[in-house]
Amino acid sequence: MSLFFLYSLTLSLYSLSLLPHSSAAVPLIGATYSLPSSATPSDLSASVSSLGLDSVLLDSPDPSAVRAFLFSNTSLLLSLNNSLAPSLAANRSAAASWLSSSVVPFFPRAKISAISVGSDLLSSSPDLSPFLLPAMRNLHLALTDLGIRKIQVSTTFSFLNTLTSFFPPSSAQFLEPASSNVIAPLLQFLRDTNSSFLIDLYPYNVYRTRSEIPLGYALFQEQRFNFRDDLVTGVRYRNLFDMMVDAVICAMVASGYDNIPVVVAETGWPSASGDPTEADANPAYAELYLRGLVRHLRSGIGTPLRKEGVAEAYIYELFDREEKQGRANQSRSWGILYPNMTSKYAIDFSGSFRDLEGGDLVVKLVWLVVLIFGVLDNGFSFGCFVL
Ligand SMILES: *[C@@H]1O[C@H](CO)[C@@H](O)[C@H](O)[C@H]1NC(C)=O
Ligand SMILES: *[C@@H]1O[C@H](CO)[C@@H](O)[C@H](O)[C@H]1NC(C)=O
Ligand SMILES: *[C@@H]1O[C@H](CO)[C@@H](O)[C@H](O)[C@H]1NC(C)=O
Ligand SMILES: *[C@@H]1O[C@H](CO)[C@@H](O)[C@H](O)[C@H]1NC(C)=O
Ligand SMILES: *[C@@H]1O[C@H](CO)[C@@H](O)[C@H](O)[C@H]1NC(C)=O
Ligand SMILES: *[C@@H]1O[C@H](CO)[C@@H](O)[C@H](O)[C@H]1NC(C)=O
Repeated sequence: MSLFFLYSLTLSLYSLSLLPHSSAAVPLIGATYSLPSSATPSDLSASVSSLGLDSVLLDSPDPSAVRAFLFSNTSLLLSLNNSLAPSLAANRSAAASWLSSSVVPFFPRAKISAISVGSDLLSSSPDLSPFLLPAMRNLHLALTDLGIRKIQVSTTFSFLNTLTSFFPPSSAQFLEPASSNVIAPLLQFLRDTNSSFLIDLYPYNVYRTRSEIPLGYALFQEQRFNFRDDLVTGVRYRNLFDMMVDAVICAMVASGYDNIPVVVAETGWPSASGDPTEADANPAYAELYLRGLVRHLRSGIGTPLRKEGVAEAYIYELFDREEKQGRANQSRSWGILYPNMTSKYAIDFSGSFRDLEGGDLVVKLVWLVVLIFGVLDNGFSFGCFVL
């Protein structure tokens, strides 16, 4: 009993970051870029370096966009159209041939870090789901044939279409697509190949649909009365982003996978919407969200359940799309730059903030006391408690 208690206590202390540990990992912060855009590839790389972004997610990557990043330090995530999955799945040489035109000419002079086979494929193109894992395997094997081991192969999930629930985060599980058992083999593939779990995660969309969520909680405005406790894990959440990330981590734990890195492939807050009911899509809130996100990620304090936090996060999106004729009032503007390449916000995305977000240590001490009493009282019975 006492050995077990000491062991639990040490692990708990460690997970609450009260014991000294090596310097916190700071996630890469990037933005997404999609075509069509009025920005040329050279505008693209110039904007990325002037904003201080570390990485870019290229949606349906075009070789000229990849070429723009040759010899830069910008890390690239290439996100493939769902429609490519069947051909990549059918034939390993189809995967090799895609790589020979889109990756081989540029790598490693362009820092391609990962390839995502599709986005929200399981929900938005369910007919393609049998092709997903075979396509990922073929790409991975074709990369191995080429001697390339540094490019991860993954696929991007959508938060709202992937989890059964997210509050409390410890209750989260994956929604398995009706016909099949895809999630566990996919997670096994990610673990076997040291690849990350990619997910689109929008506090904005959750806030819009859940009236009980306070605006400040979604916007990283840390006020005590906004905080939410997960009574199962005894963890206190200070913002909606962390809660959503920990829900993803708990869903992985529930499937038996506890240490796969998480990459937020899209997040953001619109600065405008054509829909007059979306009053919260405004530049002031968008700036608060992005500023809060950057400060939180750069602080390196991670989430309550994972002290290293997410590995990377991409802001959707770099440039506002040009408004389409006749659809202007339905579209939302997500860009951090206007179509004319000027910046919407005064945010330094490279800023390295070292503030511990006041009161952090006190909060951790309180959790610790709760935890110790929890152990003495009930034994160690937490649901999702990732150490
Ligand atoms: C890339 O990073 C290295 C090491 O930090 C630095 O020496 C080099 O100047 C950077 N290159 C560019 C194009 O920023
Ligand atoms: C993906 O491919 C489909 C079919 O080829 C096409 O209609 C769609 O526009 C593509 N999507 C993107 C984002 O390029
Ligand atoms: C696989 O692709 C290669 C080249 O792309 C082609 O020559 C071959 O016939 C394909 N095999 C099958 C079974 O489709
Ligand atoms: C994954 O990482 C571990 C530890 O860093 C390493 O030993 C292993 O070879 C890697 N596996 C692959 C497939 O890269
Ligand atoms: C969009 O604009 C059209 C024409 O300007 C207008 O008739 C319509 O009511 C607007 N829709 C919304 C949702 O604002
Ligand atoms: C760029 O576009 C924005 C929004 O349309 C506008 O406010 C700004 O003045 C423009 N800047 C330049 C230099 O044209």
